[in-house]
Amino acid sequence: QPVRLSDYRPFPFLIETTSLEFQLDPSATRVKATLSIKRSGDAAEPLVLNGERLKLISAAIDGQGLSANQYALDAEHLTIHQVPDAFELTTEVEIDPSANKALMGLYMSGGRFCTQCEAEGFRTITFFPDRPDVLSRFTVRIEADAAFPYLLSNGNLWEGGEVDSSQPDRRHYAVWNDPFPKPAYLFALVAGELDVLEDSFVTMSGRTVALKVFVDPGQAPRAAYALDALKRAMKWDEEAFGREYDLDLFMIVAVRDFNFGAMENKGLNIFNSSLLLAAPETATDMDYERIESVVAHEYFHNWTGNRITCRDWFQLCLKEGLTVFRDQSFSADMRGEAVQRIKDVKALRARQFAEDAGPLAHPVRPNSYLKIDNFYTATIYEKGSELIRMLKTILGAETFRKSLDLYFERHDGEATTVEAFIACFADASGRDMSDFFAWYEQAGTPAVSLAHAYDETAKTLEITLTQSTAPTNGQPIKRALPVPVTIGLLDGEGEVLRDSEVVLLDAPASTVRWEGVERAPVISALRGFSAPVNLTTDTRSVDRYVQFAADPDLFNRWEAGQTVARELVLGRAAGTPDEVGEERYADALGKALVDDASDPAFKALLLALPTEGDLSLAVDPVDPAAIHAARVHLKAVIAVHLGDLLRRLHGDLQSGGEFSADARAAGKRALRNACCDLLAADPHAVNVERVVGHFESAANMTDAIGGLSALVAIGGASAEKALAAFHAQWRHEPLVLDKWFAAQARDPGEGAIGRILALTAHPDFDAGNPNRLRALVQGFSSGNPARFHDETGAGYRFLADQILAVDGFNPMTAARLVEPLGAWRRYVPELGALMRQQLERIREHVGLSKNVLELVSRALD
Ligand code: ARG
Ligand code: ZN
Repeated sequence: QPVRLSDYRPFPFLIETTSLEFQLDPSATRVKATLSIKRSGDAAEPLVLNGERLKLISAAIDGQGLSANQYALDAEHLTIHQVPDAFELTTEVEIDPSANKALMGLYMSGGRFCTQCEAEGFRTITFFPDRPDVLSRFTVRIEADAAFPYLLSNGNLWEGGEVDSSQPDRRHYAVWNDPFPKPAYLFALVAGELDVLEDSFVTMSGRTVALKVFVDPGQAPRAAYALDALKRAMKWDEEAFGREYDLDLFMIVAVRDFNFGAMENKGLNIFNSSLLLAAPETATDMDYERIESVVAHEYFHNWTGNRITCRDWFQLCLKEGLTVFRDQSFSADMRGEAVQRIKDVKALRARQFAEDAGPLAHPVRPNSYLKIDNFYTATIYEKGSELIRMLKTILGAETFRKSLDLYFERHDGEATTVEAFIACFADASGRDMSDFFAWYEQAGTPAVSLAHAYDETAKTLEITLTQSTAPTNGQPIKRALPVPVTIGLLDGEGEVLRDSEVVLLDAPASTVRWEGVERAPVISALRGFSAPVNLTTDTRSVDRYVQFAADPDLFNRWEAGQTVARELVLGRAAGTPDEVGEERYADALGKALVDDASDPAFKALLLALPTEGDLSLAVDPVDPAAIHAARVHLKAVIAVHLGDLLRRLHGDLQSGGEFSADARAAGKRALRNACCDLLAADPHAVNVERVVGHFESAANMTDAIGGLSALVAIGGASAEKALAAFHAQWRHEPLVLDKWFAAQARDPGEGAIGRILALTAHPDFDAGNPNRLRALVQGFSSGNPARFHDETGAGYRFLADQILAVDGFNPMTAARLVEPLGAWRRYVPELGALMRQQLERIREHVGLSKNVLELVSRALD
């Protein structure tokens, strides 16, 4: 049965200190835990600890072994019926890290021990109150064979050395102490052979912090970029939020087998190696960008997550939404605000809007769940971040900063709630924030519409905004939300008529009236995407072109182009093509491309048409084949219409010089690759030689992948040749091989499903490794709509087969694959029925995990 927010009860005991002793062994690790416990609740309460898949060796209270009638053990708990008010509990358990393929708790990756405890992995390591509101001071002693030279845990190293130099078994140990009380989900341990890249950082109060990044032997040079990003993040957090690091040591470890991106364990972050290691030959610019942002994200958690943590998992957005907002702000400062905002909004729409539009829609703060792991979603993270951004927009930067200062001061050291967080904004601003709270409780993307009336003689403008939110699963009735809509005005020539202003729509409808509007205006609304809503306006097509050419708000300049493109593609998909409009759009793109005032990274974004996923959110029901064909057509029109310009740019942008990972150089590569992508779409195949050349002469992974993807889209012999060459060159580099699988997963060609199926039998395919699995399976189900939605249902069957296979050993990762099937109601009936069939087949499967069951059932009812 589900866990409910309303059932929250404080834990009736305090765990003042926790001392853990690990005797590491890959298949039989012993964990001895000594907890000093004090009763804080009712005298009659038994002590109930979480514990799963643990072999209990012994348990004692104040040194007295427990007899069988004093406790009860089930598959998930250890219950001790009667305990004193203050005592020491000692337990010893045995666990088998090498058998742990779920990658939660203590497991082996690449011959090393590592951990992942958030959300509920600690309970597979030892008996403990595994909940975020139980904070304890940890001391950890790790003992292992000398074949595991590094022994790492949270905090500061107290001591270490050989256990007994007279013994031939060469065991050694290390003792770590973390002075900051923390919940168990922030515990971490790593042991094994590693290389380390070291540096240091001097904090704003003048303390020197040692920085260490640990990676696979031989990979240290590839950690340099991450280390540099870390130093920039530490500095930035001091300047932007006044947050200083608090330990003398900060460590990051990269591991190859990891269920998600990275984890903010106190003083010992653990990363998926794909989000840490980078070299120009092996990493794309997108990899660099993500490394920078995830390194910052995990570091920023030290204050928003670790120093102040969550009372319960319903409050997950308290740390995740806020930390995403912080990493997005950091990236904007590092790489340019407009480009960053456009990328963030693209990702928000692709993942979160899709989630909000389907059966898995849930509020940013949910009120029930079966498996919390299923709630590490785009809604909690990305929409959570949008809510923070709106707070800043509504209150202004200064009050926003004051509110957060208050939050840090008031709640440091606590496990708290979203209510307490919002109270800081109310107190610091003196405003009533209770309406805003509805954003946390209501699922679904609001639809906002804008209509205007201009009175030419009175020079007045009336703008009417209305909002509504469609019902979602379990929430039939929706309230009006406070929506900040940033609006500015242009005239028909693109001159500024009126600067940006935030209009707060906080009712179902409201009208603003502006005087002194001298000429008929073009309304630029929702600038910077000031709220996570779907906006429709009464803007005429000519006015969109004015915005596309001249809107000083670069987000809306981009948005105007996307809106035109969306209308063209969807019109053609619906059987009403607009050939004149298509040519006109291509013309406008051409003009934007030669505008010297705008930056190449921005132009690259202008050139990318809305994705098929984005387009499918705008229609009901979705016919993926028609959308695909119409989008291919528009690309072809642009490729032909702008052929000369694209070829010239493609030539001019080729850089001979040394590789730089900075935003400026990356922007040029992005633009050149966008040109390549379009040129590959020319239906007369006049650019194939050039695309082959792009691939073959690539001097970095960004260009190599750009060329490879373009060739895969063209298909045929040149694609095959490039794929074979790429594999031969990179077969020993796992992170690059992931890209090879991903490129083929996106193959839009006719026989692609057969080829993708065959790849699951490729000797390099390994479903046990989440990166490899996602490269192929998610690459296909999310990155290749045309083939995933094959009319025979073969794509759906493939996905269901993979989910079931992986669920047998890694439920968390299996569950994350379910989403594309969940949208079945939005598709044309023939496809929807086939999708549903697969969901039903999964649900019937014997031995299905709770994780997958929860998502599949929600998708079906
Ligand atoms: N806290 C981590 C981060 O956002 C992610 C942990 C994911 N855990 C999970 N069970 N899905 O940085
Ligand atoms: Zn996070």
